Order: sequence, then C-alpha cells, then structure tokens
Amino acid sequence: MNDRLIIFDTTLRDGEQSPGAAMTRDEKLRIARQLERLGVDVIEAGFAAASPGDAEAIRAIATTIRNSTVCSLARANERDVRAAGEAIRPAASGRIHTFIATSPIHMEKKLRMQPDQVVEAAVRAVKLALEYTDDVEFSAEDAVRSELDFLCRVFEAVIDAGAKTLNVPDTVGYSVPAQWGERMRQLIERVPNADKVVWSTHCHNDLGMAVANSLAAVMNGARQVECTINGLGERAGNASLEEIVMAVKTRRDVFSCETRIDTTQIVPTSRLVSQITGYPVQPNKAIVGANAFAHESGIHQDGVLKHRETYEIMRAEDVGWSHNKLTLGKLSGRNALRNRLQEIGVVLDSEEALNAAFARFKELADKKREIFDEDLLALVAVDASLDACDRFKLVSLKVCSETGETPHAHVVLSDGGSEIRADEFGGGPVDASFRAIEKMVGSGANLLLYSVNNITTGTDAQGEVTVRLARNGRIVNGQGADTDIVIASAKAYLNALNKLFGAEERAHPQV
Ligand code: KIV
Ligand code: ZN
Repeated sequence: MNDRLIIFDTTLRDGEQSPGAAMTRDEKLRIARQLERLGVDVIEAGFAAASPGDAEAIRAIATTIRNSTVCSLARANERDVRAAGEAIRPAASGRIHTFIATSPIHMEKKLRMQPDQVVEAAVRAVKLALEYTDDVEFSAEDAVRSELDFLCRVFEAVIDAGAKTLNVPDTVGYSVPAQWGERMRQLIERVPNADKVVWSTHCHNDLGMAVANSLAAVMNGARQVECTINGLGERAGNASLEEIVMAVKTRRDVFSCETRIDTTQIVPTSRLVSQITGYPVQPNKAIVGANAFAHESGIHQDGVLKHRETYEIMRAEDVGWSHNKLTLGKLSGRNALRNRLQEIGVVLDSEEALNAAFARFKELADKKREIFDEDLLALVAVDASLDACDRFKLVSLKVCSETGETPHAHVVLSDGGSEIRADEFGGGPVDASFRAIEKMVGSGANLLLYSVNNITTGTDAQGEVTVRLARNGRIVNGQGADTDIVIASAKAYLNALNKLFGAEERAHPQV
C-alpha cells in the first residue's frame, strides 16, 4: 500500500499574497468549494489576524466546507493564534498553522529576537493553539537559510508541545532539489521524535524550482506538500498543485505515495482561480496551459494520431480538459442555465444570483450566437466580483476611433446612484475611456497592468480584461468581460477602482 501524500492548498492564503490577488469573502468561498470538489486535504483559508474581513471569510469557509480540513495561518503570538482559533471554530475539521522565522537573518533583522526566545514563542503558540484544535501545524519560516542544529532544536520542542505537522519552508525560493531533499532527509533522521508527525514542504518558485524541490522532499520522506493552484503566490509564486499531483500520479514508479485529488477537476479549478484573481495562465504552463495538450507540429500530430502515447504522457481528459463545449443558446431558459452551471460545478447561492446570471446570459446570447462553458464561467465570475454596494457602475460608453483621428470616449457612470459624465481623447479607445473615467473619479492610481485574453475562439468571443491598479502601497486587480473589449476594459477598470475605494486595512503575515 502506498502512503498518502497530503495536499495542503494555500491558494487562499499564500496565493492571495500575490499583488492585487486579494479576494472577497464570496470569491474565497467559491474557490474553497471548488478545492473541496477537487479533493484537497487541507484548505489554508487565510490569515485570520489580517483583518476582521479575513477572519470572517475563514469562518464562512469553515462553516461551509465538510470534506476538507480548513486551516488559518497565525504568527506565533497570542493575538494571532486566538484569532485563528476563533475563525476555524465552525469547521468539521479545523487546523491552526502557526509559524515563526528560524534563520539568523530573520531572527536578528526582522524579529529582533534571540534564538531561545524564538523556541519559547514557538512552543507557547503551539500549546495555545491546542486549546482550539488538536490539529496544529508548525512552520519554521525561512528554514532554507536556518542552521540545521537550531532547526532540529525548534522542531523537537514543538513536537513535544503537541504539533502534529511540521512544515519546512523554502520561503525565498533559494534551494535546489538535491539540497532540499537532503535537508528533509536529515531533519527526519536527526529530530528524535520525528516519527510522531507528518513532515511537510512549502517551496517558493524564485529560481523556478518550487515543484522540483517539493518533489525532492517527497522522495525523502515529506508526506504533505503545500502548494497553490496555477502556482499562484508571492513574487514568482508557490509550487503548483497541478504539477505536483500529476507528477506523483504519472510517475508512480518514482513516488511511493498517492493523493486523493480528483484530477478531472484540475482545469476547472485553474480557470476559476485565474478568473477570480485576474492572473492569466501562460499558454505553455504545464497541465493547465492552453497549449499543454496541443500538438502543433505535423510530426507530433502524426505520431499522436497513430498511437497517442508516442507524444502524450497524460490524457487531457484526465486533468479536466474538454473541448470547447457548445452548451446553451439564445433560446435556452433559466432552468437550462441553472442545470448547466451545476454540471460545471457552479452552485449559485440564491435565486437572486441565478436571476442576475440569467440576465447577463441573455445579454450575452444577443451578441454571441454560441455560448460555451468558458463563457458561463466568465459570466458568473464577473457577477461574483460585482458588489451591489459598488460605488461606481458603468452606465454607458461611446467611443469614436477612426484612422487619422484621435480616439475619443464619452463615458457615463453612476457614482453612488447619481449620474456623472465625461469626455476625453486618448492614444486609443481604451486609453480615452480610462482617461474619461479617471477625470470623473480622480483616483490618482497607477495602472500597473492591462491585459486582454479571449475566453473562447472566434472574433465574436468575449474578451476578458484584467486591470491592476496601485495607490498608496495598495494593489488591486479588476476584471471585466464583454464581447466588446473596450466595454470589458472599462468594466475591469471600474471593478479595480471599486476595490481600491472599498478595501479594508489588512496586515501581512510575513512583514
Ligand atoms: O513561505 C513561507 O515561509 C510561508 C510560511 C508562513 C509558511 O508562507
Ligand atoms: Zn510561503
């Protein structure tokens, strides 16, 4: 019998620490439901002490999710651990993940603590967390640059205190596979009570080796991997869940363990996370990139047609790729929409949400003859990102773009219910529209990113636009989708502005 490899997903916590990837409570809940459907063992739902909103989102996830453990991160201090403990209280299975840095540079420069104080704080945090749950995980932040002897001392102490999972993070993405595997092997060998806990690995991707390092740790005894969907995460991201899971499944000859992931849910989960966070997936990304199973060159195509295994080591359908499926059309009714959404894993919480989705579906069906599953997913993702309390709404947009003339936009917005309007010229129709919006709103925000992706193929496809704005150190992403990309752009810009104006103050766990 193979060992179980525990999949700990931190998309909603470490993934959310990516610039602008902050999610609303409802967006987090939708992703958490999909992660449960995917079969992840542990969902790290957030960092409860970050803000009351974060704690509330964790509590909502803990209340809803029944088949995965729901976890909150907590720094090794009383306030954080209590906030985490309260947030996971409703969970069927709840975990507190407490951490403190153990490397000389972090202890001296960031924490300004002596090593003895760090051990003491770690033990105290684990003991306090046990008052809320017997499932306590401890992480030694920056383990990659920590001294092995000290790491062994901290780990031995927290096992004695009652921690059940010990996580070894490469916080800065510095390691290489041989070294990381060796570190895991040495820890398990040298920590006297190592057999009492599950060893875990958590790797960042700064040198592009997060997945390779995680797998090296698994080959040396780690039985939990911390990872994110699409490799989302701070800087270059975290180890990507889909790559870890498919490597273990495809190379059973190498890994003596298995996961309980339903791999056919991988692509739908990847799409949902991308749509909600506004982080597109690069086409050549392993497993979930649009080209991952596309055979362009004639030689490859010929080989695949004759015998599929010539060039394919995995089957597209096993990870949830289905060809663009024509699902609904102009004449489809509300029930057909509800049923199809259910079939592709979208559960709308209320009749109101279904009505809103249906109204948008009808609007889209007027402009686009064929509606695909991808269109429906974009439609509900955009609906979910709209908040009834949003201050700015797009009322109308008129652009004039002609060869030899400077593009011009006339935009009408609703600002808290009152209509405002402005005209502007710009380098292109999108630029003119953004300038007109900015003239009315006066946000002073910097545009960090503007990207357009087509959701399906064809010139009548919906364009999905992501806009990233920064103001006073706060970064937000906004999304919009429409068959007209100038309208999609204006919607995305307004979505980002609403988030910028509405965002609450949040603490970052590692700074
Ligand atoms: O990268 C890291 O060290 C972390 C810890 C908080 C586990 O995310
Ligand atoms: Zn991390």
